[in-house]
Amino acid sequence: MKEYISNFKENGYVVIDLDFEIINKVRQDFISILKKHVGEDKKKDGIRFLEEFHNLNIKNLNDTRLSTISDFNLLTSIKERLYDSTQGVIDSIVGNDLAVQKNINLSFQLPGDDSSLLPLHSDVWSGNSPFEAVLWVPFVDVHKSKSMYILPRKYSLKYHRTEELKKVSLSELFENEKDNFVWPNVKFGQAIIFSHSLLHGNIVNTEKESRFSLNLRFKSITSPYGSKALGDYFVPFRITPMTELGWEIYGK
Ligand SMILES: [Fe+2]
Repeated sequence: MKEYISNFKENGYVVIDLDFEIINKVRQDFISILKKHVGEDKKKDGIRFLEEFHNLNIKNLNDTRLSTISDFNLLTSIKERLYDSTQGVIDSIVGNDLAVQKNINLSFQLPGDDSSLLPLHSDVWSGNSPFEAVLWVPFVDVHKSKSMYILPRKYSLKYHRTEELKKVSLSELFENEKDNFVWPNVKFGQAIIFSHSLLHGNIVNTEKESRFSLNLRFKSITSPYGSKALGDYFVPFRITPMTELGWEIYGK
């Protein structure tokens, strides 16, 4: 745990081991939902089904993604299961009075597909609170272009000064920092927790297999909010007995 915290402090992100039993069950649930939507043979091995998903040549991929997200979010206690799979790391990094993103996002990155890329950005540039941490969980092993890229804390911070950002275009910035980006190797059973104030994004998946991942944001419930408000994008998740008592005194 100590190492996770010092890694996060230094870099603004950390790759952690999840509780395998919990995350494996979540992946099985995800595969069942996806198979239901694309009508794939139930006998096919789940991991192969994911990695070879692009061979199905799904026509309305975005519709499939949206209906899968919708069903995935209906899974019983899904956010609690994901939180539990981190085995206390969210608490150590974010706190234990927590708000969580209301809806979990799923990302499908098929080989050669450029339809749902996230170009280099910091979520804080578009008004999100820098107090939000992203839990990013791949359902397959990822590396290189099948992963994502992150610009570690010491390189990212300067791009939160407007005058620094004004000096360069995004493509120049990408070029200038290209040796500083990290492309985390993440095995299934692991996750990245990162500050979305760090510059990050993804490129076209040039590996042979499809990538599926989820992302879910946590923040301290009392920390400042940005464009994503409590009760709207975020909902209360964990409240300590003291906080609950305190708010009760205020009649909330
Ligand atoms: Fe982002």
